[in-house]
Amino acid sequence: MDKVSVLKAKQEEALQGGGAKRIEGQHKKGKLTARERLQLLLDEGSFEEIGMMVQHRCRDFGMEKEIYPGDGVVTGYGTVNGRLVYVYSQDFTVFGGSLSETHAEKICKIMDLAIQNGTPVVGLNDSGGARIQEGVVSLGGYADIFYRNVKSSGVVPQLSAIMGPCAGGAVYSPAITDFILMVENTSYMFVTGPNVVKTVTHETVTSEELGGAHTHASKSGVTHFACANEVECIDHIKRLLSYMPQNCEEEAPVYAYEAGDETREKLNNIIPENPNQPYDIKEVIEEVVDADSFLEVHKEYAENIVVGFARIGGRSVGVVANQPAFLAGVLDINSSKKGARFVRFCDAFNIPLLVLVDVPGFLPGTDQEWHGIITNGAKLLYALSEATVPKVTVITRKAYGGAYDVMNSKHIGADLNYAWPTAEIAVMGAKGAAEIIFKKEIAEATDHDAKWKEKELEYTDKFANPYGAAARGFIDEVILPSATREKLIKAYKMLENKAVSMPKRKHGNIPL
Ligand code: HXC
Repeated sequence: MDKVSVLKAKQEEALQGGGAKRIEGQHKKGKLTARERLQLLLDEGSFEEIGMMVQHRCRDFGMEKEIYPGDGVVTGYGTVNGRLVYVYSQDFTVFGGSLSETHAEKICKIMDLAIQNGTPVVGLNDSGGARIQEGVVSLGGYADIFYRNVKSSGVVPQLSAIMGPCAGGAVYSPAITDFILMVENTSYMFVTGPNVVKTVTHETVTSEELGGAHTHASKSGVTHFACANEVECIDHIKRLLSYMPQNCEEEAPVYAYEAGDETREKLNNIIPENPNQPYDIKEVIEEVVDADSFLEVHKEYAENIVVGFARIGGRSVGVVANQPAFLAGVLDINSSKKGARFVRFCDAFNIPLLVLVDVPGFLPGTDQEWHGIITNGAKLLYALSEATVPKVTVITRKAYGGAYDVMNSKHIGADLNYAWPTAEIAVMGAKGAAEIIFKKEIAEATDHDAKWKEKELEYTDKFANPYGAAARGFIDEVILPSATREKLIKAYKMLENKAVSMPKRKHGNIPL
């Protein structure tokens, strides 16, 4: 064979992965192959492979006779909607996508290039874990990846799709990255699988129940997205990338936007007469952001807070909003953690924040106190305080107690704080407040209930409005709800050159 034909034959061999039979097996499981996934993700013809000829170095257990060029992972770079990304895609048809020394080296090589060139990394995971025949070099390979995940954190966006098994220590690479997406029914993540669980805790549980997409989307919050299938998963990756800059020194892309009538009359009637009646904050979000631009993150987890990406006037924003339609929008441990993690991503990558406030306070109870609502609630306070991106707040209704401070108040560095006329900004609800401060008068009255009601109304008149806060400048302007979108478009434009310098330090110490 001439030399060109030799190369062509080697390339052809690599493209076959673990061979036709194993590819068929992969398809039968409802899964695509590593290369098919990359084809869906990357712009047509943009993929450039790096390391196609890499081979493992194991010479034990007859492994010298089983060589598959590429060694179970396809790595390289390409473009998504014209923007550069580095990618790795594990090939389950080669030793179950298991991670060998050389497989890890390939991933590390593209991660190093990504940091050096300021470009996101997308990892498509489908792996049986450490290459069992290799022993400790495989474990070392994992650690080499973890170390780079940490080094890249906040430097370039890192996205992990789980499209098959991801078990044991292998879960910690996705866990460190910014976003995890899982595919329903074909992917799972757990530190120890059902068999070990059965032995240790005597619980009987399936892989899907223990660590499937739905479990991690709703119970643990480990995954940010549970996708119906691989195509949806890859679509989500592309969409997520569209809101992000390439790295921490760049801005997110600005989309073309033509100003029109920005009034949204619907918002004037969205708050119910009865202040204890719920409404869906997502309806408010949809009205204030650009049409169809909202991508909710962590949709099924801690639904009392809504977070997600959107665009306002063509610019990316991160939205954090209390959800009165779920647990009255109360702040609890999970919602604080969810909000804080999202805020930190946005701040790391220069994505301005929009905080919509309708919060009755923090959730009381032994469960919350004993599981650390103090430490966990502080995460959201810390994250919003340390964020230096443009920060805008709109109080739609309740802003009570410590939660008023936490939810991007003026005092913790928000740039513009708006309130609707329906806003209630107070230390606590009127009923409870009246009971405490007018205790004596209520007790001495002949009709206790009537007195209580009278004092409740007195407190409501004084505090259940935004004007006290506006008089002090804690609220910059009380606005018509229908004007919110227009105000926000102008606000983010006005803040686009925001520059803040912080005191010198190595890093802060967020209450983890
Ligand atoms: C080497 C592996 C492998 C592994 C699978 N294979 N896992 N080879 N190392 N870890 C090979 C199989 O031998 C088989 O080869 C092919 O991949 C497909 O595997 P199957 O078992 O046929 O597939 P399936 O039935 O779909 O089951 C997938 C699986 C199972 C659930 C992942 O293979 C499995 O349990 N594998 C072992 C998982 C494991 O214990 N890994 C180590 C965990 S410890 P052929 O030649 O037949 O195609 C770990 C520590 C990481 O990962 C620590 C990081 C800090």
